[in-house]
Amino acid sequence: MTDGPDVREGGEPPDLQRPSIARVYDYMLGGNHNFAVDREFAARMLERLPGVAGTFANNRAFLRRAVRYCVRAGVDQFLDLGSGIPTMGSVHEVARAIDPDTRVAYVDNEPVAVAHSEQILAGLDGVSISSADMRDPESVWSAPGVRDVLDLERPVAVLMVAVLHFAGPADDPRSILDGYRSRLVPGSLFAVSHATTDLRDPADRAAMEEGERLYRESSTPLHLRDRSQLADLLSALTLVDPGVVEMRDWHRDPEEPEARGVGEALAVVGRVD
Ligand SMILES: C[S@@+](CC[C@H](N)C(=O)[O-])C[C@H]1O[C@@H](n2cnc3c(N)ncnc32)[C@H](O)[C@@H]1O
Repeated sequence: MTDGPDVREGGEPPDLQRPSIARVYDYMLGGNHNFAVDREFAARMLERLPGVAGTFANNRAFLRRAVRYCVRAGVDQFLDLGSGIPTMGSVHEVARAIDPDTRVAYVDNEPVAVAHSEQILAGLDGVSISSADMRDPESVWSAPGVRDVLDLERPVAVLMVAVLHFAGPADDPRSILDGYRSRLVPGSLFAVSHATTDLRDPADRAAMEEGERLYRESSTPLHLRDRSQLADLLSALTLVDPGVVEMRDWHRDPEEPEARGVGEALAVVGRVD
């Protein structure tokens, strides 16, 4: 195939008229699960935001830090909402390096991301991919891949990494979060990274404003939130130290230096008590 990846037969066909952020993200991380429309969007993004690939890599680095934090806190099951294409250090690999029995339910609503996840994860025990919309928690909980992999009598870590900002006010993000939290036992965790302009560096703020304009051209526009809005959305959780901070400041790992990105996100981990 000359223009992008094969997708499985059946299932929803990918929308090739508009860039998909899952596939743009894959391209930025060096993957090949993307189409011309995604690469053109990525090229525009790189032109208007040189260095943005570093920001994407930093988001992925936060994901890895958060996963390690959750496993070390004793949580060995993950629900990864908006999981994308599991390139570069996916959740089950990072978690299983510490606890080989970790179970992971990946969820995405982008057909190419789901199809490639199916290929990559085929044959792995205790790991699944489900096609569902994270804005509809009931559809996520009832997906066989989620139901069969996660034991809701024990704590689960819910990952909403670079995805909650795709839920706008009309989606009622508070009720989305409640739809997950209300099913989880104490000790469960939420790890969130979220696009924002609430940043200390003016160059980062300007980059995020530009990013928000760009995303309006994709199938998933961004809804930026500031620290207090994000903390407010998560107010039913106990926030783990240091609370809502710039992503680069959340449990920095000296072993894993940050790429120089443009723009930043907010990051936070919260616990169900
Ligand atoms: C920027 S990528 C982040 C991927 C991964 N979480 C990470 O941080 O590396 C956002 C992902 O969220 C997915 N996504 C966006 N809106 C979604 C929705 N309503 N339900 C499920 N997935 C969604 C996109 O398809 C994409 O794969």
